[in-house]
Amino acid sequence: MRRPRRNRKSEAIRSLIRENEVKVNDLIYPMFLLEGNNKKIAVDSMPGIFRWSTDLVLKEIEECLMLGINAFDIFPVVEEKHKDKMATKSHDSNFFYIKALAEIKKKFPEACIMTDVAMDPYSSDGHDGIVENGKILNDETLEVLGKMALTQAETGIDIIGPSDMMDGRVGYIRELLDENGFVEVSIMSYTAKYASAFYGPFRDALNSAPKHGDKKTYQMDPANSREALIEAELDDMEAADFLMVKPALAYLDIISLLRRNSDLPIAAYNVSGEYSMIKAAGLNGWLDDQKAQLETLLSIKRAGADIILTYFAKEFALLKMKEGKN
Ligand code: PBG
Repeated sequence: MRRPRRNRKSEAIRSLIRENEVKVNDLIYPMFLLEGNNKKIAVDSMPGIFRWSTDLVLKEIEECLMLGINAFDIFPVVEEKHKDKMATKSHDSNFFYIKALAEIKKKFPEACIMTDVAMDPYSSDGHDGIVENGKILNDETLEVLGKMALTQAETGIDIIGPSDMMDGRVGYIRELLDENGFVEVSIMSYTAKYASAFYGPFRDALNSAPKHGDKKTYQMDPANSREALIEAELDDMEAADFLMVKPALAYLDIISLLRRNSDLPIAAYNVSGEYSMIKAAGLNGWLDDQKAQLETLLSIKRAGADIILTYFAKEFALLKMKEGKN
């Protein structure tokens, strides 16, 4: 009789035939940055996650580097008084976020620092693009995104992450970067970014929820998969270095689809709501959140992601350290 259980009879055999493994250096750790000094403020809807001022984020990054986490995606928490319709602060080289990026790169040149390009944290409308009469203007927004990307590139960061979903932005940003001598700055495109309810806790953390309307005219419809192939093809033509799927868990099929249809590295963003669900259930004693975390990250790998952006990064690295597997 064929007995598949023979291959499961001991951990030694199970580990011989194990097809997928999540490694600490597959992970990118998203972090929230605050203006000011000596500030560490918890994100209530994301237990274990904080917003940090620059001085403290430097310490946190140092700790993470020692745990083997090499890549960080930094998002700014922008105070209401700094927001306006055109997201002006996003390309102001005196703004705390830009200064902090330069400081981080100076202190940790070996760390891979990724930044976010989209207007929403800086926009008084809370949208990723310029709003006029209730509509999001695509091509006018590209100009703002371009300036934002250049200002960030000047700090020495490694990867630009356009998360706005405007058409043509990858090519537009690539060209601007190249013209200005930033040929080495990579672009990780939010290729298939869906209009998802799972971004809720992130918008709490940044206070960046749309003030009116929703993001359905630019983020993708969760009902669609073929559209992801169109986005992937465009990003590839526009010279993206990595393709990203976001969120990850409810979109494992999309990760797998892009994996099979592209030779570019595929990243998946295990977003805030996916983190919070597991943490909340764990805190209630409804499931073992550490095991659920490992299983979740593994499922994203198995679906075909090379890279995972996840708020679990530090906890995962600590677990691996304890197991002595770093
Ligand atoms: C903004 C942006 C969002 C996230 C990353 N960049 C939220 C949104 O589009 O509203 C979400 C990340 C998360 O939920 O963890 N362009």
